[in-house]
Amino acid sequence: MLYRPEQLVFCQALPKIELHAHLNGSIRDATLRELAAQLNGTSISMPDVQLRTQQASRPLGECFKLFDVIHQITTTCAAITRIAREVLADMAADNVVYAELRTTPKSLPRHGMTKESYMSAVFQGIDDYYAASSRAHDIQVRLLLSIDRRQSTDEALETARLAVQLRDKGVVGLDLSGNPSVGQWETWVPALDFARQHGLRVAVHAGEVYNPEETAAILAWAPDRLGHMCCLDASLEQQLLLSRVPIELCLSSNVITGSVPSYQDHHFAALHNGGHSVVLCTDDSGVFATTLSREYAIAASAFTLSDEQLRQLALTAADHVFLEPGERQVLRARMEQLLGGSSK
Ligand code: IMP
Ligand code: ZN
Repeated sequence: MLYRPEQLVFCQALPKIELHAHLNGSIRDATLRELAAQLNGTSISMPDVQLRTQQASRPLGECFKLFDVIHQITTTCAAITRIAREVLADMAADNVVYAELRTTPKSLPRHGMTKESYMSAVFQGIDDYYAASSRAHDIQVRLLLSIDRRQSTDEALETARLAVQLRDKGVVGLDLSGNPSVGQWETWVPALDFARQHGLRVAVHAGEVYNPEETAAILAWAPDRLGHMCCLDASLEQQLLLSRVPIELCLSSNVITGSVPSYQDHHFAALHNGGHSVVLCTDDSGVFATTLSREYAIAASAFTLSDEQLRQLALTAADHVFLEPGERQVLRARMEQLLGGSSK
């Protein structure tokens, strides 16, 4: 058993902050099947889709094949709008009070989709969620636009420019993600530089596979947050600790993809015990069949965290959001209030 039922109940009741969630990776199973069924016999087969569900392990390469299947199913603005609305509803139901959702804007000329219309569909889904919600203190959401590692310098720059244009729509940063075995770090640096020069924040997936030269170059560039950092040598570990860059840690994702051998072996423990800033996140709640509460419960069990340590983890996530300082302080104060003042 990964955790005791009462640990999950405690973690569900905690107000939480989600900082690393990919839109299409967070699609509900039921929605994926329904959208796939509508396309069955055309571009997609149901066995391809059924393959995806709840395997105990799925090597990283298999995950990216799965994302390709998901992307073949989510080619309409209506589908993207629906996924965005449902992801917010699922997070809010899980007591997530603030989320930074990331997604790769897609240009699909065959489907009449541009990166701009893709993003409009995402914003529509967010609006639809709020229009239908009756929650008094609802989830607050911001967006990061992702660069896929398959993209060229020009494509990445296009995404960075779009992110800057969409700042007043809630875009706060850029993300670099995609298959870590594909592409070269130098390709995307101009886009990440551009975003930073225009006041956006940058999160980078790094060290998902062992690639010491690339991880060293990423650390030297000093992103505002790092994702994963699983496969490091001693020298990189040292550089990471010195950098003090906060790390988004996704336990289920790392264990299911095999980037980390087991929950007990996860680098969460060393980083957390060493006082390095870490934030628990889901990565892809749909693909990895998880929730943020479940990730907290797994951490509670695997690393024997006390209730107070769990509250502190939830609270300190507020210090690493990509909001402006004033908004960040408001969020932190809100978290303190929701946590009952016991975590100050
Ligand atoms: P989307 O950007 O909303 O389409 O979400 C899915 C995309 O997120 C995938 O195609 C990948 O590019 C990226 N992604 C999701 N999970 C991971 C991960 O664990 N490592 C690297 N990239 C990921
Ligand atoms: Zn990720």
